[in-house]
Amino acid sequence: MSGGDRARWDARHGAAQPSGAAPPGALAGAAELTACLPVSGRALDVACGRGGVAVWLARRGLVVDAVDVSPVGLAAGARLAASAGVAGRVRWVTHDLDAGLPADCRGPYDVVVCQLFRDPSRYADLAAALAPGGVLAITVLSEVDAGPGPFRAPAGELRTAFSDLETLLDRERDGEATLLARRVPVPRPPGSPPVRRPRS
Ligand SMILES: C[S@@+](CC[C@H](N)C(=O)[O-])C[C@H]1O[C@@H](n2cnc3c(N)ncnc32)[C@H](O)[C@@H]1O
Repeated sequence: MSGGDRARWDARHGAAQPSGAAPPGALAGAAELTACLPVSGRALDVACGRGGVAVWLARRGLVVDAVDVSPVGLAAGARLAASAGVAGRVRWVTHDLDAGLPADCRGPYDVVVCQLFRDPSRYADLAAALAPGGVLAITVLSEVDAGPGPFRAPAGELRTAFSDLETLLDRERDGEATLLARRVPVPRPPGSPPVRRPRS
């Protein structure tokens, strides 16, 4: 990303009104969908903006890595986390995703959220960051009901990119595409020892 683009995001985040913790917008108001997201373990919010979803995940019980290129957005997120009493549960990471996920943000995560940041070259990284049983919630701008645009996904892009995951929701309408999908746990042979996960 160029310095000019980063400055534009900083300006946008700096001019925005403070907002609160909130679930991913495409799942808001649908308890049966938010219930699909694990409430313990680790979460990653990719291109987290001002951190509303990251703080919502932390309040649900997850330990969150929140990544964005904009220090202004991340600072707003840190203020929100402090006011919500979860400052110690969110790590704010300034990083340009053009270079891939940060080396210390590659998982395994129980929840990966990516909302309104579309980079198809990163889709494989998002899938690889999921723990067995982990859930991905991704929303991108879509051409469906909107027509072509430089940042919009053609119909079926998310379904195809994440076809290795178990689909929980696949919705394309009104210019947005949302996929909610789970990495199916690999069954362990009978009698094998429990899997030990790295501490978060
Ligand atoms: C439309 S906002 C979405 C923010 C947040 N996910 C939400 O839904 O509120 C897109 C975000 O992507 C971030 N972003 C854009 N390009 C990026 C890049 N190359 N690396 C990291 N973050 C980037 C911007 O700073 C901005 O916060």
